[in-house]
Amino acid sequence: MSNTPTQIQLIQPDDWHLHIRDGEVMKDVLADTARQFARAIIMPNLKPPVTTVDLAKAYQSRIESNLKLLGVSGFTPLMTLYLTDNTSADEVRKAKDAGIAAFKLYPAGATTNSDAGVSDLKHCHAALEAMQAVGMPLLVHGEVTHADIDIFDREAVFIDTVLEPLRKKLPELKIVFEHITTKQAAHYVRDAVTGGKNTIAATITPQHLLMNRNAIFAGGIRPHNYCLPVLKREEHRVALLEAATSGNSRFFLGTDSAPHAKGAKEAACGCAGCYSAFNALGLYAEAFESVGKLDKLEGFASFFGPDFYSLQRNSNKITLVKQAQSIPMELPLGDTTIVPLRAGETIAWSLV
Ligand code: NCD
Ligand code: ZN
Repeated sequence: MSNTPTQIQLIQPDDWHLHIRDGEVMKDVLADTARQFARAIIMPNLKPPVTTVDLAKAYQSRIESNLKLLGVSGFTPLMTLYLTDNTSADEVRKAKDAGIAAFKLYPAGATTNSDAGVSDLKHCHAALEAMQAVGMPLLVHGEVTHADIDIFDREAVFIDTVLEPLRKKLPELKIVFEHITTKQAAHYVRDAVTGGKNTIAATITPQHLLMNRNAIFAGGIRPHNYCLPVLKREEHRVALLEAATSGNSRFFLGTDSAPHAKGAKEAACGCAGCYSAFNALGLYAEAFESVGKLDKLEGFASFFGPDFYSLQRNSNKITLVKQAQSIPMELPLGDTTIVPLRAGETIAWSLV
């Protein structure tokens, strides 16, 4: 006999890691996120990247125009800046005063639009010190990029060679280890000694809670299940699910929904990124339900993120019902289309 509820109420969640791109396509992807989430951390890996407060403000106003076109009033974008070898301490202080939520570290070449990323953290010392001083979070794409490191090991090697030395050097810097994919990362964040301070957390995507690397190769190559960091072995998925559903406030929701047009995914050299925004909350509910931990979803989705960022929790509620939702094969994306995660299948939970 199952005790699973058929309906759950939550304080409205936020998405602490999201790509909404720019231009024509933004409105379509923003609509999916704004339907479910109250706020989202907006990733700065545009072309060219959002490296200054002025660029972030301009991007924010384009987002606001699109929200207006969509008739959405209850959604707030939280802006981030893209860290480069040349980011100055002054820009960090200016960002703090301007209400920028965080800086994002992309090791150069690690993922989509990261060519302008950091070549070596030693170039960023003044900026990182300023972040620590003003309480500006650093969001890290936690993968090394050397071609000689196996793609499945890049996150674990990053912990030892970049993250741990960085935390030793700047112990009060607030760091979010983004979209973690391994047991090593989950355990590192869980076990980090912070002297009771809120200095480390991690976001976890729905795809890394629901799939392992076999999903990229199920009966043929599945480009829509390819993202970075790439899906790992089952033992890692299990460790991530255990972390997300543990009630530990260091783990919170970040979809990393990363839209790419169908043709850019289904290609000889397809782009990395899963489009999970269409029913992201349904995907998370499925994952939590799979281990009988739906009662832990609200903390993960709605409380621990704002607590880490020192923002107010939302107060309005949303309802998820256990009602299978069919996921379309394609969705509109500007003048092209996008294939959502689980296209042509169903998701067990939907937003009322
Ligand atoms: C992201 C994108 O497309 O911008 N892709 C992805 O696979 N996650 C970049 C990123 O977050 O790594
Ligand atoms: Zn991302």
